[in-house]
Amino acid sequence: MLAFDQVDYYYRRGKPVLRQLSFKIRQGEFISIIGGNGSGKSTLAKLMNGLLQPRGGQVRLGLLNTRNPDDLGKIRERAGLVFQNPDDQFITTSVMDEVIFGLENLRVPGDEMAHRATKALEAVHMEDYMEAMPHQLSGGQKQRVAVAAVAAMEPSIMIFDEAASMLDPQGRRDVLDLMHTLHRQGKTIIQITHDMEEILLSERVLLLSQGNLVFDGSPSSLFSDVSVSEHQLALPFAARLHQALGLNAPLSADWKETVSALWSMS
Ligand SMILES: Nc1ncnc2c1ncn2[C@@H]1O[C@H](COP(=O)(O)OP(=O)(O)OP(=O)(O)O)[C@@H](O)[C@H]1O
Ligand SMILES: [Mg+2]
Repeated sequence: MLAFDQVDYYYRRGKPVLRQLSFKIRQGEFISIIGGNGSGKSTLAKLMNGLLQPRGGQVRLGLLNTRNPDDLGKIRERAGLVFQNPDDQFITTSVMDEVIFGLENLRVPGDEMAHRATKALEAVHMEDYMEAMPHQLSGGQKQRVAVAAVAAMEPSIMIFDEAASMLDPQGRRDVLDLMHTLHRQGKTIIQITHDMEEILLSERVLLLSQGNLVFDGSPSSLFSDVSVSEHQLALPFAARLHQALGLNAPLSADWKETVSALWSMS
């Protein structure tokens, strides 16, 4: 269980970024976090794995608390964060070393380390770049490696901060497939995204607006409960079709299911 309890955060005193955030995320949930630029999503992600500590309130992961310096090592092992800007993540000089580095910190045995790193790079189709220098990769390739480096550590919670924003359609599918595979294995998946199609694939959506949590519920209820224009949300195709047809059937991520629901109603 990851619990935020009345969390306040500011970078500069008097300029609150997050206000009184309270919510709980159970192990195994698949969550999307959405909100406009500057609404506090990346700040929230960094509070989740203890990279930032709350100015007020508590962030707890099971019995661990990010305010307790002795807990921080364990928290970062359990909650892996893929940064929005992959350059912030790289510290070594080769792709393979980048993935191995995190595993060394976890004291994973040598032969298992190579196996895990290779498997993670294969999942994002970067196995041919093991010897390449991270800084010479393209933006999308960097994002793939950043995802692999965190996935290889096998954290029980994985937070993706717009980790697919620079990816081509195949890369996006690879990362989404990886999220679903990890979710099926019982991991908690938290994705921060601006892509309204992607949120329909999650079980629960948190919407941030100016540092306030203004919605916490299922993706299908988001579009009926929240003012789409007020929060600059683009309706995904399935939701537009659903609304245009005035359906009573539940909204589905796959518009084809909406159409077949319509057929079965008539
Ligand atoms: N290191 C920092 N120092 C000072 N202010 C910061 C810092 N990082 C973020 N901010 C400010 O905090 C607010 C929230 O930023 P944050 O990066 O969390 O937003 P976001 O929702 O992730 O936005 P985006 O969609 O653009 O990624 C913004 O107003 C931003 O300018
Ligand atoms: Mg951000």
